[in-house]
Amino acid sequence: MKIELNNKKVIFINDHNKTEIHPIWLRERVRDEKFLDKNNDQRLFDPSFLNNIIIKNAKINNNILDLTFSDGITSKFDINKLTSEFLDTESLSNTVKQKLWDSSLKNNPTYKFNENFSNSKDMFDLLKSFYKYGFVIVKNVPTENNYIVNFANSIGSIRPTNFGDFFNVRSVPNPNDLAYTSLALSPHTDNPYRKPVPCIQLLHCIESEVSGGFSTLVDGFKVATYLKENNPEYFKILTKIKVKFKFIDKDVILENKGELIELDKKNNFKQIRFNTRLDYVPLLEKNQLELYYKARKEISNLYNSEKFRIKFKLAPGDIMMVDNHRLLHGRTAYDTNEGKRFLQGCYIDHDSSEGKLRHLKRKFNL
Ligand code: OGA
Ligand code: ZN
Repeated sequence: MKIELNNKKVIFINDHNKTEIHPIWLRERVRDEKFLDKNNDQRLFDPSFLNNIIIKNAKINNNILDLTFSDGITSKFDINKLTSEFLDTESLSNTVKQKLWDSSLKNNPTYKFNENFSNSKDMFDLLKSFYKYGFVIVKNVPTENNYIVNFANSIGSIRPTNFGDFFNVRSVPNPNDLAYTSLALSPHTDNPYRKPVPCIQLLHCIESEVSGGFSTLVDGFKVATYLKENNPEYFKILTKIKVKFKFIDKDVILENKGELIELDKKNNFKQIRFNTRLDYVPLLEKNQLELYYKARKEISNLYNSEKFRIKFKLAPGDIMMVDNHRLLHGRTAYDTNEGKRFLQGCYIDHDSSEGKLRHLKRKFNL
């Protein structure tokens, strides 16, 4: 990876590819005081107003590219910064490599809360683990005064829903959601009916006096990978059909559509949706639906199988942070006669956690 000059052209060389860097691309990145507000890193000029810019003079010295543009502006560029932008080193996928897991996962990624947690190196490590495994557990988080809200806001900003800034998960009479009963919840993703679907779920255990009520997690991307390898036809239909998800109560009707396995343009996993109490597949041709139902049954079997599921008990003070676009979560049933079980939950979005991760990477020079 190199930058070199060829007769006033700036050439970027990566492997065997040589590309000329457009002069406007460089001119836009002039960082001198007159052109950039140092307080916010925002441009003080509008590069969309620039006319045909060419490079009048170019030199490279000690990893510094020195350019004079045709509008008379001269500026120096740090070549390391330019190459890091080309290689997208700041991007999440270049900062953290996902590790897909199944029930053989040995240790849950676990961190211990302390007073200065929010801007600590531990928080950086936590966020990296979160993107690696799709979840983390934080122990010893204060349980008073809805502390979950403070915790969420210390990473980014809470994402309110029609349940409020946060919600209480305990068994109540006439609940508007099965979560508010003592029934088992099979592995699911939360709120696929919301637009956009909340990215990250935080669940804080406040009280746990029951012998049941274990938490379960499944890595949806791992299961989808398994399905792709073992049953490509099922995989394909689940990545193609957009299903409608719907939530109804006395105040609101929420709807959103999406694939059970959503891929991005490069066929990488983007998002898993699974909530079989709220899903409505469109009326397709019978053969198509036959295939879809077989595929849904298969993925449901996989999500519910011991092969992929981990199971553990949250203790009072524990916060479980789960990527709701990748993992499925659930719980085993419990008996309300044994005592109390009380969790508090809320959502944050990926821009919060990704933004914090980049900030801490900058802060600790990592
Ligand atoms: C939920 C949920 C799990 C639990 O509230 O969305 O899945 O352990 N709860 O009660
Ligand atoms: Zn849930």
